[in-house]
Amino acid sequence: MTIHTILKMGDPRLLRVAKPVTEFDTDALHLLVLDMFDTMRSVNGAGLAAPQIGVDLQLVIFGSGDRNPRYPDRPLVPPTVLLNPVITPVGDEEDEDWEGCLSVPGLRGKVPRWTRIRYTGFDSYGDPIDRTVEGFHARVVQHECDHLIGKLYPMRVRDFTQFGFTDVLFPDIGAAEDD
Ligand code: NI
Repeated sequence: MTIHTILKMGDPRLLRVAKPVTEFDTDALHLLVLDMFDTMRSVNGAGLAAPQIGVDLQLVIFGSGDRNPRYPDRPLVPPTVLLNPVITPVGDEEDEDWEGCLSVPGLRGKVPRWTRIRYTGFDSYGDPIDRTVEGFHARVVQHECDHLIGKLYPMRVRDFTQFGFTDVLFPDIGAAEDD
């Protein structure tokens, strides 16, 4: 198991448009996915995209089988490996909620996202994934897939009065969190 260093905002590798995965069900791909889960769990992340560890591939992971201490009130999202994703909004409803990012430590911002989306893609075995989801699940997928087109959540913030340091915005929880 390898815990990778997570790149931080300012690193140009976070700004690339990632390449599609062309080979599925390989040892290298399965190892990369395992390492990404280890890396994400080591910092209590809700999701992680391959570009965040410097890997230029359209690969994201998200979800967990347990409550996330960083998001204790959020609904559970099934652990998912998603390659070559395509997101389509379902309806035109948007909502705004707080997001953080392991590549933007110590900060939170309110980000508008589609409320409901359909996402398609493949798992690491090459089997198709096709889900229609809403709320927190939809938000996590949109956040992670943004990493595949070089977008970090601060680039989506519309109201910069709703962007700041976690420990100032949320003094009750902020001190216990590293992100
Ligand atoms: Ni992120």
